[in-house]
Amino acid sequence: MIETYYGWVQKKRKHGKLLFLDMRIPEFAGNNFQVVASESTLGKEKFESLKKVTQESVLKINGEIVENPRAPGGKEMHLLEYEILNLCKNYPLAKKEHSPETLVKLRHLALRGLTYQRMFLLREKVVSLFREAFREFGWHEVFPPILTQSACEGGATLFELNYFGKKAYLSQSAQLYLEAFIFSLGKVWSLTPSFRAEKSRSPKHLAEFWHLEAEGAFIDFDQILETQEKVIDYVLSNLLTDEKARFMIESLGGNLEYLNSIKIPFERITYDEAVKILSKKTNFQWGEDFGRDEERMLFESIGKPFFVTHYPTEIKAFYVKQCIDNPSLCYSADLIVDIGELTTGGQREDDVAKLVHRIKKEGFDPKDYEWYLDLRKYGSVPHSGFGLGIERFLMWLTNRHIRDTIPFPRSARYSEFI
Ligand code: 4AD
Ligand code: MG
Repeated sequence: MIETYYGWVQKKRKHGKLLFLDMRIPEFAGNNFQVVASESTLGKEKFESLKKVTQESVLKINGEIVENPRAPGGKEMHLLEYEILNLCKNYPLAKKEHSPETLVKLRHLALRGLTYQRMFLLREKVVSLFREAFREFGWHEVFPPILTQSACEGGATLFELNYFGKKAYLSQSAQLYLEAFIFSLGKVWSLTPSFRAEKSRSPKHLAEFWHLEAEGAFIDFDQILETQEKVIDYVLSNLLTDEKARFMIESLGGNLEYLNSIKIPFERITYDEAVKILSKKTNFQWGEDFGRDEERMLFESIGKPFFVTHYPTEIKAFYVKQCIDNPSLCYSADLIVDIGELTTGGQREDDVAKLVHRIKKEGFDPKDYEWYLDLRKYGSVPHSGFGLGIERFLMWLTNRHIRDTIPFPRSARYSEFI
């Protein structure tokens, strides 16, 4: 079969009388495409000028497609003719080793590399599977705003901006808006950018991340944990039965065997039980929140993904419902996996007086939450929801640093970014 493609030269190698080109061809994204050129087919002059093409030069190539199990993707092109459309000079990433800082600053070029091709093809697949899962289970996709007037996850990580002379913020979470939708659509979800002015240089925090959030009316604490299990299981099992997805996960560093072993329902332990496990190893005190070390110790002790449930009310956000039999605890749960926290979710406070009290206690003005309080004043219902960071999910699949899971990472760590 004779085909014509357009693409970019990645590498070239001479082997006897043949010249091998590794090319980046969009039709074969995720793999290089091998092109084999010979002097006897091209003629001396064309063969010599092909030997001079540089990395990122653009070629139109025409040739015969031949099966070759050793070539990436299982086939290669035997070149019949070509045209140089652009000869690239001094490509900044031609050198092999680069610091993470350089790769963030030059991300517009680094995106061309195989790692990022694979990561973003995998990301596309993951997002489409989440969308499919929610549709399958009867949840509606909705589109909440990014510019907001009220904090959802505490004041410390708010990005403030000037909104026509008034203060406004970049959204930390779409949750409060999703709560408004449940009164008409019942079960809703959204995928939006969320922003956190995180000062830490942690390998799993970004200042801008993609937040998948769900919120459902008449859904209680247990049911929202089950929803998370069903949705995550749907995505994971579909990925693991898809040959292309398996290839991308494995080539990015993921462990297919481990991912295959993950089964629902996930283990559940209470915060109190978690403190007991930790107190054998550290001087962790009841009432503290878990950091990376505590999450790691808990995961080592349990050995598989688990929910920690019933946290102290004091360390969770104002909207979390207090336990009926013990108000010092609340209906909140984190899903912890080997990379740490993957989701946070729980049941929401549906009593307006309790909500006002908690908003004040967190140092916010209930006036800024009037519209949110209306949701409790008019037809309040029990409801629950959760949030999952898409980049955390990709970290979980591939064992990569969070900066490799998003095309243009924003974080306090990288003062220079594009
Ligand atoms: O735990 P968080 O802060 O919970 C919420 O925002 C809730 N309002 C969600 C909800 O119930 N609708 O964030 C939820 C998830 C985390 O578990 C984590 O996966 C991710 O969002 N996340 C981050 N991912 C990357 N960088 C950050 N700075 C993140 N902060 C949270
Ligand atoms: Mg959380």
